[in-house]
Amino acid sequence: MKKAEIGLYGIGTMGRALALNFAENGVSVVVGNRELDQIAAFIRAAGPLAERIRGTERLEDLVAGLQVPRTVLFMIPSGDPVDQMIAQLAPLLEPGDTIIDGGNADFHDTRRRSDALAAKGLHFVGMGVSGGEEGARHGPSMMVGGSDDSWRTFRPMAEKIAAKYGDFPCVAHVGPDGAGHFVKTVHNGIEYADMGMIAEIYGLLRDGAGWEAARIGALFGDWTTGPLASFLVEVTAHVLATTDRETGLPLVDLIRDTAGQKGTGRWTVIEALHLGQSASAIEAAVAARNWSSEAATRAVAADVLSPGGAAAARIPSADVLAGALRAGRILAHAQGFRILRAASVEYGWSLDPAQIADIWRAGCIIRSDLLNEIAGAFRAGAPEGELVLSPAMQIALAETVPGLRATVGAAVAAGLPVPGLAAALGWYDSLRQARGTANLIQAQRDFFGAHRFERTDGGGPVHADWASGEMTG
Ligand code: 6PG
Repeated sequence: MKKAEIGLYGIGTMGRALALNFAENGVSVVVGNRELDQIAAFIRAAGPLAERIRGTERLEDLVAGLQVPRTVLFMIPSGDPVDQMIAQLAPLLEPGDTIIDGGNADFHDTRRRSDALAAKGLHFVGMGVSGGEEGARHGPSMMVGGSDDSWRTFRPMAEKIAAKYGDFPCVAHVGPDGAGHFVKTVHNGIEYADMGMIAEIYGLLRDGAGWEAARIGALFGDWTTGPLASFLVEVTAHVLATTDRETGLPLVDLIRDTAGQKGTGRWTVIEALHLGQSASAIEAAVAARNWSSEAATRAVAADVLSPGGAAAARIPSADVLAGALRAGRILAHAQGFRILRAASVEYGWSLDPAQIADIWRAGCIIRSDLLNEIAGAFRAGAPEGELVLSPAMQIALAETVPGLRATVGAAVAAGLPVPGLAAALGWYDSLRQARGTANLIQAQRDFFGAHRFERTDGGGPVHADWASGEMTG
């Protein structure tokens, strides 16, 4: 029997969709799964694509059915299951073979696994896969981290199944070991920020202007073309326009306001802090999800802390709100790319921000026209590697920050929360302040802890006697 090009272990929702995508694009697959009874059912349901999909019940058979060098893709829950599967599979493989983890793994785990397998001559690839089930089936965006050798084998298959932006396949070998999973983590952080800011605009219109869901949905529908064109704006327009079959009410109004999260947004913030970076717009989104789960506390606080209800709101026009969302989105992306740059330096990855923006233009959850602008902005040259300093983004921010400022101002005046938009604006305003206020922080530190400071005239570090104003070295 002809050997398959790739092995895929784990035929849950994402694994099935990827297996069918491979098969549809002419790549032969051999699949395995922990629950054996699902294998035959899956192959039966694959219809004509089953021609290129073979099921195996034993890992030994999966390995035996693969072309050499072998590539086995795991689509299984991240964490311990990945270590357990590696322990079972690695002894069956030979030097030069590759294991790919396509889950949302913590990149530290990926680095550890990569080192451990390299010692056995095996390649370990951490691959971020974005786009949900639909993306996996018809074209995901994929962020690949691993060795050059493993990429050489996997690349032709990956390019076949990837989402296409025009003819450009949205998959790239972004760097070694944990780079792919790190890039995916930051993608998700940006995803959280974008979703959070969209929800803030929705909240202003719902609670400040009293708009019904369908009307807000129509506005987001208008925004699906033009500067805000993106998958998440399309999703928002769609969900706001949907009514509950049973009650006829807007479906979104029947959903409890308690957001779930699997952790990648939180990881982005944690890693940003480890790297000495600010991810304030992303942090605001993670925190808002955290607070959302404290429904009981919010219910009590609503009575106690807002006895008269919210202040009357003067919500800005739709154009101003659109500007606010675009500015917030640019700034959240800028924070994400700063984290990527810092990690690239820390781990020696040589990440290329333009390449990353390129592969986020189609297939993934944050795909948007803005990412094409961002790719162009990085290629045209961003001073100091700062997206916000690129000429294109300078213009975009000059056009939209007034809207962000007006929107945050109106929300603050009305007592309506816009933590993500406000964080983005606060970061932007801090960034463009040549003379900040940290001189006072340094003075305070020196006063109570003799921590010393540098003087603006070039002296220091020195400690001041805060009674006499005298300096000691
Ligand atoms: C993607 C998504 C996906 C993520 C979900 C849910 O790129 O396809 O980021 O990987 O799992 O969006 O994430 P949360 O449960 O953390 O919201």
